[in-house]
Amino acid sequence: MAVFSDSIHFFTTILLFLNFITISHCMESLEAQALIAFKNQLKDPMNYLDTWSSSLPPCQFHGVTCDSNSGEVIGISLVNMSLSGSISPSIASLRSLASLDIGQNSFTGTVPDELLNCTKLQFLNLSTNGLTGHLPDLSPLTSLRVLDVSSNGFSGDFPAWVGRLTGLVELGLAANGFNEGEIPESIGNLKSLTWLFMNSCNLRGEIPASIFQLTSLGTLDFSMNRLIGNIPSSISNLRNLFKIELYQNNLTGVIPPELGSIPGLREIDLSRNQLSGKLPAELGFLKNLTVFQIYRNNFWGELPSEFGDLKFLNAFSIYENKFSGVFPANLGRFSPLNSVDISENNFSGPFPEYLCQNNNLQFLLALNNSFSGEFPDSYASCKSLMRFRISQNGFTGKVPDGLWGLPSAIIIDISENYFSGKITTAIGISTGLSELSVQKNNLYGELPAELGNLFQLQKLIASDNSFSGQIPAEIGNLNQLTSLHLEGNEISGFIPSQLSMCNRLADLNLAENSLSGTIPESLAMLTSLNSLNLSSNMLTGSIPDELQSLRLSSLDLSMNQFSGRVPPALLVIAGDEAFDGNAGLCIDDLTDNRVNSLLSVCSFRDGHKNNSKKRLVYMSILFVMIVLSVGLAFASFKSFKLEEQRKKKDMEEGSEEDTSWKLESFHPTEIDAEEICNLDDDNLIGDGGTGKVYRLDLNKNRGTLAVKKLSKGKGEQVLMTEIDILGKIRHRNILKLYACLTRGKVNFLVFEYMPNGNLYQALRREVKVGKPELDWNKRYKIAVGVAKGLMYLHHDCSPAIVHRDIKSSNILLDEDYEAKISDFGIAKVAENSELTSFAGTHGYIAPELAYSIKLTEKSDIYSFGVVLLELVTGRGATETIYGEGKDIVYWVSRHLDSEKVQQVLDKKVSISMEVDMIKVLRVAILCTTKLPSLRPTMRQVVNMLIDADPCNSITTRKDNCKD
Ligand SMILES: *[C@@H]1O[C@H](CO)[C@@H](O)[C@H](O)[C@H]1NC(C)=O
Ligand SMILES: *[C@@H]1O[C@H](CO)[C@@H](O)[C@H](O)[C@H]1NC(C)=O
Ligand SMILES: *[C@@H]1O[C@H](CO)[C@@H](O)[C@H](O)[C@H]1NC(C)=O
Ligand SMILES: *[C@@H]1O[C@H](CO)[C@@H](O)[C@H](O)[C@H]1NC(C)=O
Repeated sequence: MAVFSDSIHFFTTILLFLNFITISHCMESLEAQALIAFKNQLKDPMNYLDTWSSSLPPCQFHGVTCDSNSGEVIGISLVNMSLSGSISPSIASLRSLASLDIGQNSFTGTVPDELLNCTKLQFLNLSTNGLTGHLPDLSPLTSLRVLDVSSNGFSGDFPAWVGRLTGLVELGLAANGFNEGEIPESIGNLKSLTWLFMNSCNLRGEIPASIFQLTSLGTLDFSMNRLIGNIPSSISNLRNLFKIELYQNNLTGVIPPELGSIPGLREIDLSRNQLSGKLPAELGFLKNLTVFQIYRNNFWGELPSEFGDLKFLNAFSIYENKFSGVFPANLGRFSPLNSVDISENNFSGPFPEYLCQNNNLQFLLALNNSFSGEFPDSYASCKSLMRFRISQNGFTGKVPDGLWGLPSAIIIDISENYFSGKITTAIGISTGLSELSVQKNNLYGELPAELGNLFQLQKLIASDNSFSGQIPAEIGNLNQLTSLHLEGNEISGFIPSQLSMCNRLADLNLAENSLSGTIPESLAMLTSLNSLNLSSNMLTGSIPDELQSLRLSSLDLSMNQFSGRVPPALLVIAGDEAFDGNAGLCIDDLTDNRVNSLLSVCSFRDGHKNNSKKRLVYMSILFVMIVLSVGLAFASFKSFKLEEQRKKKDMEEGSEEDTSWKLESFHPTEIDAEEICNLDDDNLIGDGGTGKVYRLDLNKNRGTLAVKKLSKGKGEQVLMTEIDILGKIRHRNILKLYACLTRGKVNFLVFEYMPNGNLYQALRREVKVGKPELDWNKRYKIAVGVAKGLMYLHHDCSPAIVHRDIKSSNILLDEDYEAKISDFGIAKVAENSELTSFAGTHGYIAPELAYSIKLTEKSDIYSFGVVLLELVTGRGATETIYGEGKDIVYWVSRHLDSEKVQQVLDKKVSISMEVDMIKVLRVAILCTTKLPSLRPTMRQVVNMLIDADPCNSITTRKDNCKD
């Protein structure tokens, strides 16, 4: 009996055991299937998921963890594995999943509702992916401790349901595209929260008081939202806070002194708000403070001297406030300061001595204050210093010798002070230097030959001092140099031919010195040169023809003693002004550029044998064209290293933002990517088909730029076309493209800014009632300018460029009403001109294009004719009074039929101009002839327009023409 019962027991045990195996086997395969289905939704370029196959048990899959008792899958960790694809709904089968961590991949699509079946979930990290759509309400997952969905593309309403997840310890919702909304009061229910990360969540309104009851909070981050209101004194309830990030909001009021009573506070960033008042002395009681950033606010008064007692301070950035008075003398004395930016305040008195006391200082930026006296010697031994900028202060005396020799320095900028003394040979130690700016001081002596050791140097700006002696030939060693400014000194001797070895030089200015001798022909080897100014020296000889091969945007050779013939291509680029004040210069009769030229035509004896001379000139023009068209292909758009380009705010702002800018620069303008990114809708100046255009005033009066932000989709093509064309061509009547920036998916084109807007607007503006802003002389000047720009595109570019969208709103006007053709977004190089898609603007499109005939320059000429009609009539290209589907060409032709020519002329423009206006009207009519073959070429148009010059007309008083 006992035996029997024993064996029964044995059997049941066996049965139970077998049963258990099948159940767990079954479960295992269900989980394996779910995981493999999960994997099947993914691309795994690095093969991290190779072990995820049916031949292995799921607990051996890479990144999968199982419960050691039950064998069930409880964790998936696939952080930063370059995975893409969507989250499979199969996840629902993982009933015991407690932790899902797929952060820092490229997951896309939506979060499946099936995630709600994983009711055991405690840890969910989906951050830094490309997930989109509505985030499902996860509040039923009441076990959640950590929820991080930051840095995705989630949309819809702000997930206010998080307020019900009362077990949460960490919550990250930052950087998503939620609808604008307020911070839900209910976040205050999450009493266990230690980490709250809601950066860039489109939040507005005030911070609810309930937040200040979360006494466990260590990190509070509401930065980059639109929050308003004050920082309440109840913030001191947050006894465990060590990091507070509220930068870039719209907070007002003062910093409450109570903030200074949070014992463990280490990092404070309140930058970019509208906070004001004095800093409370209590901040100096924060013994563990390491980072203190409050730049771009309205704080004023003196800094509390208590900051001088801090022992852990590492980063201190308070630029762009209104602080004044003497700087705390002890700041940095006991702290391992690494970066200090106190620029753009009004500190006065002596400069503090101890910022580099602990030999850790890399960034010292104190530009634009009122510091005075000698600069302390203590910095001469600051070997760690990388960025050293103290420009625009009132420093006097000599620069401490050691300050020239900073072995780690990338930038030394002491410009716009009253420093005297020499640049000493110690400069040869600063071999990492990329920028040396010493302009506008009282420095003197010779430039040391050791400058030639600075192989990384990109900018050498030493203008407006009293340097003398010769330009050291060693500068020719600097093959990274892009800008060399020595203007406004007392430098003498020859221009060293070695300069031609600086093959990246884009900007060379040696004006206002006492240089003599000739221009070395070898300067023509500087294929990157964009801007050349040698004006106001004592240079002699002829202007080398070879310079015509350069792609210059600006040239000034005025006020020298040059003689002989002006190379014709240089005259096209720079105009007369560039050659003023050289009594011996003359121009060829050949150029089409006689309009308003004050230069005399070279007389017969200038050319030895006139005919062969002419042929030579033709040949050289041809040569230039060939060089231009071939050379351009590789005449590299230089990629500036942005790191070196950024002005000063690098370490503050760069840290939280995507810094992966791509910058292509076509011009030596100093482009600051951060400035360009912060476009303000208040400064919107245009919103065209291809993108929005903003006006951008550069900081510190560095001028104004126009920035076009390209809308997605069409943007890419437009970008490529504009860069392709505008990056290469140079003409005074074509808008200059300075740079192209790419940040992520957004592209920016940076152009010169045109204060008088476009022709369409200008034609409609009045200086007073009935008196248009554009009188006939201005309109004529605009007509000729546009014509010359088009002539350049059609005749001087090889292959020719057809703009395809000439219209008054694409013609911009600078401060002198010089016309600039813009918007090359749909332009074509005539060579590959199979016109398949419809382009252009109604009212300006030549009739033949309506039937899509092959594209030629003649269609631009038609559009130009329409612009001339607008100038003459003051009317728009299309207006309802012309009748249904009719345009200005039809309207004018009808009036001409009836012989009432005067009636089409703009009555607001003086009657005395009628004769000249009719001459231009004739040109307009020729240009808008229906048959393309009968339209004149742009070269003929320019000649006809020159004959219509009101300044040569008897009816005009000469003084109207001088401007
Ligand atoms: C992600 O992985 C790459 C390469 O495996 C590594 O270079 C990078 O530092 C990782 N990123 C993070 C944030 O861990
Ligand atoms: C998820 O849960 C719902 C209800 O709680 C249930 O009807 C559904 O079958 C579950 N899905 C899976 C795949 O288990
Ligand atoms: C910030 O506040 C100021 C004044 O309080 C207001 O003029 C401005 O529009 C606000 N800016 C934003 C982005 O809300
Ligand atoms: C300050 O930091 C030190 C070391 O990091 C730490 O031991 C100390 O507890 C901190 N003080 C406070 C008040 O949190």
